[in-house]
Amino acid sequence: MKSSDSATIEKSPRSFARRGSLADRAGLISLKNVTREYTSGLRTVNALDGISIEIARHEFVAISGPSGCGKSTLIHLLAGLDHPTKGEIVVDGLALHAAGDAALTHFRRSQVGLVFQFFNLLPTMNVLENVSLPLLLQGVSPAESEERAAGLIELVGLRERADHFVHQLSGGEQQRTAIARALVHRPSLLIADEPTGNLDSHSASSVMQLLEKIGREALTTLIVVTHSDEVARAASRRVEMRDGKIVRDSRSTS
Ligand SMILES: Nc1ncnc2c1ncn2[C@@H]1O[C@H](COP(=O)(O)OP(=O)(O)OP(=O)(O)O)[C@@H](O)[C@H]1O
Ligand SMILES: [Mg+2]
Repeated sequence: MKSSDSATIEKSPRSFARRGSLADRAGLISLKNVTREYTSGLRTVNALDGISIEIARHEFVAISGPSGCGKSTLIHLLAGLDHPTKGEIVVDGLALHAAGDAALTHFRRSQVGLVFQFFNLLPTMNVLENVSLPLLLQGVSPAESEERAAGLIELVGLRERADHFVHQLSGGEQQRTAIARALVHRPSLLIADEPTGNLDSHSASSVMQLLEKIGREALTTLIVVTHSDEVARAASRRVEMRDGKIVRDSRSTS
């Protein structure tokens, strides 16, 4: 990629990084024997089949495996979007398997940033408005929302695009906007499900560079479902799944 590319990633705002506290060194995620069965008619699918894993704060985990092996099911559970059939999931001290709807909604709004294959940006809003929105919905003042959103827009390398509407952005720029929006409320966990799956190779590359930067600077705990070797290589930990199970879990030595 050319160094003049608009994807050039600028230095992150100092205020965003929250490293070094005692809490940072504690485990963030703990799964014990987690099973998720889907039943339709007489058929039961074991989408997750007894998964146990611990993930520390600020790890960058890449999850891969063939289609249908349970990757999206796993991250939906981690994001508090779904309940396990059996087993325990604790994220940042909250027992998600036992939590009610109100607690899960609060957990998602305050602790989780989600990025999907399709960007789900609001087309009638520009980049700054899209990224500010989660803060406004939380009751943060318009001035503070805008200031924090501008910091994130700079982080993802889109300062020059802040007043562009969604249709005036490339696919990679849209996804970087979605990543800025997912990070703006400072979640303890950023989860991305195949974030480059809908992008051409050039746009995918700009998104992968951004994820690498977020992982490298440990801005948050990062879990990325990906078929991309490039993203997986950048991760500090690679988890491979098959048939609802974890079959490989390795940490990078670099
Ligand atoms: N709502 C559902 N009802 C029934 N079965 C489901 C449901 N959602 C997922 N499944 C099944 O659970 C298994 C795991 O699905 P999941 O979406 O987690 O796979 P994945 O690894 O994310 O695949 P892909 O790489 O294609 O996105 C699949 O066999 C799928 O058909
Ligand atoms: Mg999936």
